[in-house]
Amino acid sequence: MKVSVVGTGYVGLVTGACLAEMGNDVLCLDVDANKIRILEEGGIPIHEPGLDQVVARNVKAGRLAFTTDVARAVAHGTIQFIAVGTPPDEDGSADLQYVLAAARNIGRLMTDYKVVVDKSTVPVGTADKVRAAIADELAQRGSDMRFSVVSNPEFLKEGAAVEDFMRPDRIVVGAEDQEAILLMRALYAPFSRNHDKVHVMDVRSAELTKYAANAMLATRISFMNELALLAEKLGADIEQVRQGIGSDPRIGYHFLYAGCGYGGSCFPKDVKALIKTAGDAGQGLKVLKAVEEANDAQKMVLVDKVVKRFGADLTGKHFAVWGLAFKPNTDDMREATSRVVLAELFKRGATVSVYDPVAMDEARRIFGDEPRLQYADGQHAALHGADALLIVTEWKEFRSPDFEKIKSRLKTPVIFDGRNLYEPAMVKAMGLDYEAIGRGVAPQAA
Ligand SMILES: NC(=O)c1ccc[n+]([C@@H]2O[C@H](COP(=O)([O-])OP(=O)(O)OC[C@H]3O[C@@H](n4cnc5c(N)ncnc54)[C@H](O)[C@@H]3O)[C@@H](O)[C@H]2O)c1
Repeated sequence: MKVSVVGTGYVGLVTGACLAEMGNDVLCLDVDANKIRILEEGGIPIHEPGLDQVVARNVKAGRLAFTTDVARAVAHGTIQFIAVGTPPDEDGSADLQYVLAAARNIGRLMTDYKVVVDKSTVPVGTADKVRAAIADELAQRGSDMRFSVVSNPEFLKEGAAVEDFMRPDRIVVGAEDQEAILLMRALYAPFSRNHDKVHVMDVRSAELTKYAANAMLATRISFMNELALLAEKLGADIEQVRQGIGSDPRIGYHFLYAGCGYGGSCFPKDVKALIKTAGDAGQGLKVLKAVEEANDAQKMVLVDKVVKRFGADLTGKHFAVWGLAFKPNTDDMREATSRVVLAELFKRGATVSVYDPVAMDEARRIFGDEPRLQYADGQHAALHGADALLIVTEWKEFRSPDFEKIKSRLKTPVIFDGRNLYEPAMVKAMGLDYEAIGRGVAPQAA
């Protein structure tokens, strides 16, 4: 099948590459000429495990190409995926300007039947707006050319995006006309060979499904984070509580880890957008508002602990921070907790040495020559002369560190662990103070 993908970011590039891998003829479009240049020169503009091989293989086979030429992209695919960004607008709603600009381009330039697929995360009702934008452009040309609009939200996780796309849990297709449904089923058949994973539903339900999924996951995290704070007050251990409740199949073990808050390009903005959609519809979402509030507070938890120990004024103090990406296996720092932690430490007068296995370039792009920030060459290099270590991202290489090295390089032997990587008793036995999230020690045992 001939497929065009509008927007060659985390979702668009993975979608394009994986569809090409299944034999489709894919052209990826982006307005960012630099991104397209990197891809055309054989590079990959983002860090996503395994993506480089899939892209290289399919470019070589002639099934995957990149362009900044809008007319070429519109002419190419019968199926036109829209995978552009939908960042939060000032009022928290999803900003649809990029989605609608892409739709208008298609309406303005199409010369035959197109299936326009919203893959970006977009609020309920967006498919209607996309349809209206295309119809308007066609009307301006006096054309009544046929087209379909489909909602096909994406559920991939950054850091495991290729694997998620190739082996999806489900493929949600919101569509109302049979021709589009048949095409989408055919396109996704190779990803559904073991059992049918395609859920065909009405467009609005498909749009809402994506928000419901992210809102549910964010809710689990904020729930556990609040329980962790309570566990600290009560002298209970959230890790034991997690295992105790996770064993119930109605609850399950996944996505129950307490930590220093969720970030990333999706949860924060999607939670905000769903709250806004609900408010506009006159149906407040009390639970979700609390989820957001709890998460904002949770991003401050590590610094709160630092302040409790070192005082509110951190002038002259120096900290090592391990982990900048919002989660492991990605260089994405959008809404990452590390940004809140660094800003708060700077505000209080501290200086910081940071290390992240892949997000150092992204950090340089964000913080530039910030004088209070040093970019360390490795995790141990970051420790030199620091008053304490803060762990913000749960990279695998942080899981079994050399505790002797940590102890000898820090001025004060203390770790503030925002991701609960270690057994408290073990770290303490190594002679380090350990402050994690919700890992209290029962008062009677202390
Ligand atoms: N990143 C994720 O993990 C993830 C997962 C599921 C869904 N989503 C959703 O997918 C959408 C895209 O997210 P992303 O993380 O890939 O964003 P991204 O910022 O990485 O990529 C978006 C790309 O679209 C390009 N673009 C903008 N306007 C354009 C236009 N008119 N024509 C062509 N290209 C244009 C931008 O230059 C950018 O390269 C968002 O709605 C997001 O919520 C993201």
